[in-house]
Amino acid sequence: MTQQYRITLLPGDGIGPEIIGVATEVLSLVGKQFDLQFEFQEALIGGAAIDATGVPLPEATLETCRNSDAVLLAAIGGYQWDTLPSHLRPEAGLLGIRAGLGLFANLRPATILPQLVDASTLKREIVAGADIMVVRELTGGIYFGQPKGVFETETGAKRGVNTMAYTEAEIERIGRVAFETARKRGSKLCSVDKANVLEVSQLWRECITKLSAEYPDVELSHLYVDNAAMQLVRWPKQFDTIVTGNLFGDILSDIAAMLTGSIGMLPSASLGASGPGLFEPVHGSAPDIAGQDKANPLAQVLSAAMMLRYGLNQPAAADAIETAVEKVLDAGYRTGDIMSEGMKLVGCRAMGDVLLEMFGK
Ligand code: IPM
Ligand code: MG
Repeated sequence: MTQQYRITLLPGDGIGPEIIGVATEVLSLVGKQFDLQFEFQEALIGGAAIDATGVPLPEATLETCRNSDAVLLAAIGGYQWDTLPSHLRPEAGLLGIRAGLGLFANLRPATILPQLVDASTLKREIVAGADIMVVRELTGGIYFGQPKGVFETETGAKRGVNTMAYTEAEIERIGRVAFETARKRGSKLCSVDKANVLEVSQLWRECITKLSAEYPDVELSHLYVDNAAMQLVRWPKQFDTIVTGNLFGDILSDIAAMLTGSIGMLPSASLGASGPGLFEPVHGSAPDIAGQDKANPLAQVLSAAMMLRYGLNQPAAADAIETAVEKVLDAGYRTGDIMSEGMKLVGCRAMGDVLLEMFGK
């Protein structure tokens, strides 16, 4: 019997509409092959939502997302909204949807594809074969901790405040996702914190260490975040799965992304305890190339694959997409961000077309 899924599409801003267009075509084709039927519904987020409704995350968008099986997001943001107050910026829409759907676990794989090793700014021998999964806590820590704001002190001077806070329960639930994820990979988990300075990190380390008793098959290590940043570029192959808080995960996942050569290749999954997950590329909306048919749609397409794998439990369909992406790269097709000598330069649309041709080949 045909399995039906309701998917909310959030194209957002910049290159978003172009790349999500490619991903939906790929999904429709894969659906035919695997007897899956996707019903797509579009909703507004980010700058597009600000222009249309005045807010970056309209209530109607959250409602549509809640009523779907999974959410596929492209990217948000652009220069024209950069001067708005922070609660009205496109980024607030992204933080709002993470909180609104309870998406506390963010999985960000950084896989170095053999076809793209030379696209990395690091030496081949350092990056070749590296395969890292960053598990970032996404709805707590300094992004959401109270108090926050810019306040006036008694002398009238302004003071900006954010609070890094984690409860035991928050640490334990992200820890569980990380141990389970590590178990399905190389069974090595590195927890990253700043326990030499921050009390919140001392609690983090204590909770993760306690939890490790339940996962004796997973080898646990701890690193301070400054050292972890250094180790990621020094010898990335020492890592398998990394678990860390919201802010450290934001930074380390960008570093890990750059090992792969292009952030234009990396997907991510944001998952909650129940309800729909959200799947989006790690890259942003690239307003400088928006509307020019230059964007790399592959991170979006690979996000659709993560949606099938982690959100809809359709691993075979996910494999088919990932294989097609590798075939396109093997055939030498490259968008500008991953271009190298002797390869065939294509735009977003053409990349989508060759990708569709690869299915069944
Ligand atoms: C990310 C981004 C976001 C974050 C911004 C756009 C709010 O950098 O997803 O990594 O900081 O989480
Ligand atoms: Mg980031």
